[in-house]
Amino acid sequence: MNQLFKPSNAKIATSLFSFAQSNVYKKGFDRECTSDIEEEAVSYTKQLIEKAFGQADPDALLDLHRTVFQILTANFALHWKKDAINAQLPVFMRIVHLFSEAVDASDRKRLSGDFDALVAAGKDDLSGAIKEHVKQHPHNVHHPVFDFLEHEATFEQLSEFIVQEAPFDMLFGDIVSLMLPGIYDEMKMEILNNYLDEMGEMKVDGVHRTMRVNMMEKIGITAERYENIEGFCVEELALANMYMLAGFNRNKLAELIGMLLATEEVVPGRLRKQVFGWRRVGVPDENMPYLIQHISLDVVHASGWMDNVVLPLISENPNVLPDMIWGVVRRLDAAGTICDVLLERMKKM
Ligand SMILES: [Fe+2]
Ligand SMILES: [Fe+2]
Repeated sequence: MNQLFKPSNAKIATSLFSFAQSNVYKKGFDRECTSDIEEEAVSYTKQLIEKAFGQADPDALLDLHRTVFQILTANFALHWKKDAINAQLPVFMRIVHLFSEAVDASDRKRLSGDFDALVAAGKDDLSGAIKEHVKQHPHNVHHPVFDFLEHEATFEQLSEFIVQEAPFDMLFGDIVSLMLPGIYDEMKMEILNNYLDEMGEMKVDGVHRTMRVNMMEKIGITAERYENIEGFCVEELALANMYMLAGFNRNKLAELIGMLLATEEVVPGRLRKQVFGWRRVGVPDENMPYLIQHISLDVVHASGWMDNVVLPLISENPNVLPDMIWGVVRRLDAAGTICDVLLERMKKM
């Protein structure tokens, strides 16, 4: 019996997201959240999962992604800036775990063809197979969204694209940092290198997140917009959630390494086209060092990540090849879905 989530009982919550939003930083919620409330939240999560993945209900999927994004980002919050941080309470951990399993199972059904083919090809020539897969992927730089950004998009449409990509981009450095613990061999140095680049080579103004915030502010996008969970499309939340779910679950470290490889491989071409688009609408280069730097930087990151993380990892631990490939396949798929949706969204503006 659902009490908490019935619209008739709206004073408590009308969606799982509002339950998470009102309680994840609430002082005293650890005592307030009785086992009845916990079970009710878990049971409601299961219903949403059935609707989202069993019946392809878009509202249920959106509610779940907003909820999980809200909970997982609380793991990066600062307790001196919040009343409390409740992300580690059993109720929230259970919601996240149920969702993680469900989304993984759903992706596995959908992407098994790509996955099996790449695992088979990767056993002979891992680096070649992945590069070829990335190059041929319909969602790489030849996706029409990038031509649109380069040649047609207005200032507002380009801004909307930047806003939509914020949830994942802004978390990127923190997610890379989650890969550092527990690794002590040569791989560590490459992860650290990547992380230090993300940290602007240890200059505060050069931290990539800060550069991205500065760019958004210069083009008139305020925090109200880039921090508003309800403003993001479900596909972008899904990408950020996929990365965080892998970052916070040590069973998924190889998957996370594969995701990062795919990211570094696809970013440079995409950003080049965006930069051309921004120049076309009159934005000077000094307002977008964030975009310009990544065009060349991520080429270096991609080859370093392949040679110094992925190849040594798999040669020493061939059993994690499927996990790593799973990360590549999921990341490319997620990026592609975003391209389709954002193109449509911008054209409707
Ligand atoms: Fe970066
Ligand atoms: Fe990078």
